[in-house]
Amino acid sequence: MIDTFLFFCLCSWNLAGVFGVDAVQSVSVTEGDSVSLNVTDVQTNDEIEWRFGGLLIAEINRKNKKSTFYNDSADGRFRDRLKLDQTGSLFITNTRTTDSGLYKVSSSTRNTLPNTFNLSVYAHLPVPVITRDFLHCSSSSSSSSSSSSSSCSLLCSVVNVCHVTLSWYKGNSLLSSISVSDLSISLSLPLEVEYQEKNSYSCVINNLIRNQTRHLNICQLCPPCADCICCCDTFEAVIRLVIAAVVEVAAVAVLVYDIRSTRSEQHGRD
Ligand SMILES: *[C@@H]1O[C@H](CO)[C@@H](O)[C@H](O)[C@H]1NC(C)=O
Ligand SMILES: *[C@@H]1O[C@H](CO)[C@@H](O)[C@H](O)[C@H]1NC(C)=O
Ligand SMILES: *[C@@H]1O[C@H](CO)[C@@H](O)[C@H](O)[C@H]1NC(C)=O
Ligand SMILES: *[C@@H]1O[C@H](CO)[C@@H](O)[C@H](O)[C@H]1NC(C)=O
Repeated sequence: MIDTFLFFCLCSWNLAGVFGVDAVQSVSVTEGDSVSLNVTDVQTNDEIEWRFGGLLIAEINRKNKKSTFYNDSADGRFRDRLKLDQTGSLFITNTRTTDSGLYKVSSSTRNTLPNTFNLSVYAHLPVPVITRDFLHCSSSSSSSSSSSSSSCSLLCSVVNVCHVTLSWYKGNSLLSSISVSDLSISLSLPLEVEYQEKNSYSCVINNLIRNQTRHLNICQLCPPCADCICCCDTFEAVIRLVIAAVVEVAAVAVLVYDIRSTRSEQHGRD
């Protein structure tokens, strides 16, 4: 298996070397970043041309160090965003997703070029949003402990994305995921949780180079149906305890008052 793969790789590599098939170098960046497509191994007096999707966008004469940018080429998308250094390497500043594609550099004098770069510019990843779809309570209050189980339906969503995968994780294990390749207006993935579960759930969006995570706050989105101080964070637990205590004190006070007034009434009657 591995041998076959290795053989295939060596063969392809050999073919590329012998027949001058372009080696395609893949480069991935996030939109807004700058990228440099590096030219190596070129003679000093070469004239170097850069093409994007076959269209001439820039050239440099390394003898007199004069560079030219074809601003209107490729629908003017590269206007004022290209630079060439002395070696002929191409710098693209403030990249956009529309810069994705094949860049070919060729030299007038040498045949070690052309080189091809496959640039992929990925859009920024939005942080996913987790919302509650609905909360289902099924109280099974037994004799001693009033245990209620609630199941909570959640949705993790993102809008205006392409070439991404959206996934639910429980701890480090993947529960489910959904992918989209074309531009999608909205992408969402459901999850059903039991309130009693204290596991840390998270929703992750990723493309080939980046990811963004949103952790589920289970206490906030899936509140318990009955008194359940076990699963919430300490602050909320303390608040609940304080409220319970206040209610109890009030109840006792009312009871005491009630007993006293009953007694005084009885005294009055006597
Ligand atoms: C080009 O070279 C620079 C440094 O010399 C490096 O930072 C950059 O990552 C290189 N670009 C590519 C596409 O390899
Ligand atoms: C392209 O724009 C640059 C400045 O942004 C300018 O110096 C250059 O002359 C323009 N090139 C052409 C061919 O118009
Ligand atoms: C360039 O990269 C993209 C994904 O990043 C891929 O879909 C495409 O096939 C590549 N093109 C070439 C010519 O390698
Ligand atoms: C998200 O990216 C970080 C590095 O940036 C990586 O350590 C982590 O494993 C990635 N998480 C997922 C779920 O892909």
